[in-house]
Amino acid sequence: MANTTVSPVKDHTNETRRLATLLEISQALSGVLNLKAALHSVLDILERRHQVAGSAVVVVDRDTKEIHVEAANGLRLPAQRARTRSDGNGVTDKVIDSGKAVAVPRVSQEPHLASIVSDRGRGDARDLSYIAVPVMLGRRPAGTIEVALPYKADRHKLAEENEHLRDELRERYAFRNIIGNSAPIQQVYEQVAQVARTNTTVLIRGESGTGKEMIAHAIHYNSPRAKKPFIKVSAAALPESLIESELFGYERGAFTGAQAAKKGRFELAEGGTLFLDEIGDLNPSTQVKLLRVLQEREIERLGGTTSIKINVRLIAATHQPLESLMEEGRFRADLYYRLAVFTIFAPPLRERKPDIMLLADHFVEKYAREHGKRIRRVSTPAIDMLTSYHWPGNVRELENTIERSVLVCDGGVIHGHHLPPTLQTAEASGTVSRQSLVESVSAFERDLLQDALKTTRGNRAQAARLLDTTERIFNYKIRRYAIDAKRFK
Ligand SMILES: Nc1ncnc2c1ncn2[C@@H]1O[C@H](COP(=O)(O)OP(=O)(O)OP(=O)(O)O)[C@@H](O)[C@H]1O
Ligand SMILES: [Mg+2]
Repeated sequence: MANTTVSPVKDHTNETRRLATLLEISQALSGVLNLKAALHSVLDILERRHQVAGSAVVVVDRDTKEIHVEAANGLRLPAQRARTRSDGNGVTDKVIDSGKAVAVPRVSQEPHLASIVSDRGRGDARDLSYIAVPVMLGRRPAGTIEVALPYKADRHKLAEENEHLRDELRERYAFRNIIGNSAPIQQVYEQVAQVARTNTTVLIRGESGTGKEMIAHAIHYNSPRAKKPFIKVSAAALPESLIESELFGYERGAFTGAQAAKKGRFELAEGGTLFLDEIGDLNPSTQVKLLRVLQEREIERLGGTTSIKINVRLIAATHQPLESLMEEGRFRADLYYRLAVFTIFAPPLRERKPDIMLLADHFVEKYAREHGKRIRRVSTPAIDMLTSYHWPGNVRELENTIERSVLVCDGGVIHGHHLPPTLQTAEASGTVSRQSLVESVSAFERDLLQDALKTTRGNRAQAARLLDTTERIFNYKIRRYAIDAKRFK
């Protein structure tokens, strides 16, 4: 936190203190067998070295979305007593929902917060400030770290800083929305970060549904042009006769029907970014004009006589093989080389298998929220089907698949039979090619048995009750399917 009045000497001692804290924390964490004990010693260190009045590490269950307190010192959070869906104080919930830090400058002014700060270490009625930050795992909050600090007048600034932080995050919004941890997508993140700062023309290539438009957004919103317009034009969506007037605008009387002058999208994007989608579909005459714009950095409205200087970054995208279009004479080589200065390849989903379930979880959450459904998780067989399918339609196909499965899902779990038939074929699931009724029913039954065991953590009596059957039948069935209940403990 910036504090401009800090003297260099003081700064130095602060620095030393921080280093000493880090050292102690790393020692507390090294070679631990018991994470809970280790977290407690970390919170102790914070308390001793930084006058922290209370602190906690809160963890969200990936499957159930329940939160619980992994370790706490001097704080009384509802989630300490039991796992819960909401922490009741609003702060933890807010951090986990938004993935953003929350700072409350004065606890005394927030009555609902006062009860979570216990008396230990307070003695007097000093006021406290409360800060909670998200712990991100794979681009989603896995929990929070929360601290209560003695209130200092200058912590008023916290609220402002928090506001500032939020602004920054808003700018990064589109970037944070891209889900994925695999090596190929990480390379994309790096390229986006690298090119965003510059004014270079970017060409994004990749199969349909791989996220090209999303990448274009990310570049714009991470660039110095973020606050200026992002304008999209799709060469495939506009008829040939319209594309030029859309791009460059026209003067009054340029053609029949042009009763007033109109700005084109290049002019509308002034200071910002023009995203030219499906560039492979651009007709030859427009290709020539576009090349000229890229060279001269100026446009001419149709029917106009003067050139208009423009300051626009161009991002182009296509799923077409531009090299073969060039060979066939359908795409100009000179334009191609102008555009391909910086090329980003959006990787197909089948080449980044580790991202499939990250994306699937993300879409389950998104569509469950949208359709007001409560979905706890995806069953193991369904996960197998999702991860072994080859996804010719890439992320868009996955997104549609998940939305559909959320809609047809009747319980809290997405099962294999909620997925479309294309995912149920031999190549996709690695199972038999044509499933008979008996086989399908067996697969479904095995699914249900395993789910019940998962819910009850391997307790067979409880699992039987959950399925409204007897323990004897349940045991008979899991023996028949060779399911080992102990595995679910
Ligand atoms: N990495 C990702 N994380 C989250 N959502 C994604 C990701 N990639 C793609 N999507 C989603 O998938 C859908 C398709 O993405 P997008 O429209 O960017 O693809 P595209 O490459 O432009 O496809 P097309 O070539 O068909 O126009 C969108 O709804 C987008 O939000
Ligand atoms: Mg697109």
